[in-house]
Amino acid sequence: MSLDARERLIVALDVPSVKAAEAMVTRLGESVQFYKIGYQLAFAGGLPLAAGLITAGKQVFLDLKLHDIANTVAKGVESVAQLGATFLTVHGYPQTMRAAVEGKCRSKLRILAVTVLTSYDDGDLVAAGYALNVKELAATRAAQARDAGVDGLVCSAEEAATLRSIAGPGMVLVTPGIRPAGSASGDQKRIMTPARASASADYLVVGRPVIEAGDPKAAAEAIIAEIRQAENQGRA
Ligand code: C5P
Repeated sequence: MSLDARERLIVALDVPSVKAAEAMVTRLGESVQFYKIGYQLAFAGGLPLAAGLITAGKQVFLDLKLHDIANTVAKGVESVAQLGATFLTVHGYPQTMRAAVEGKCRSKLRILAVTVLTSYDDGDLVAAGYALNVKELAATRAAQARDAGVDGLVCSAEEAATLRSIAGPGMVLVTPGIRPAGSASGDQKRIMTPARASASADYLVVGRPVIEAGDPKAAAEAIIAEIRQAENQGRA
């Protein structure tokens, strides 16, 4: 996939209101092309905002992590596809993934599967009734996502290299948990620098290191520069 470093950065608009989101988008200006909207903002007017961002030439990742009976997922995805977003997440259950692929039909929306939530460990899977551990379940679901025709996976940067070998070169890998050297990890446990993550992932999702920075635009530019430098070193 041949993307410019700037196109590979997705900033998570994890803010409580459309007003705050618009202020952040204005501050980031041309530095950021791609935004992620999750539950917090989606349920506070984020969907009309997404449509506005797309009209303004930005790309949008709707992190809605859908999961329901197949008919409901397919119809829901059909509605999301009308918004013109680039990515939408669904949970990595085979029925849900197949329904999402059916629902997006021929639109340009790309479906990303969440294999196993990163807040889950092996004990949580046992408690939920699974016989597989996190690594086994993530690998199983990555293969099922590929077979269902899903466009990509959301995964931690640590898993990206392994999941790439299952997903193949055609699937998009999107990784959160990115922290530039020296920035606070917050509640993220499995973190990686932009330079290292960019070796296996296609897109890097960054929230707090940008939106909580004193100068968000400078923070975004520093991350883009770090990705670009890693790309150049990889080519050298
Ligand atoms: O602030 P921070 O950079 O940790 O934000 C990461 C973003 O990626 C948040 O919006 C979070 O919901 C999202 N995310 C994640 N881990 C996942 C999937 C999504 O951190 N497995």
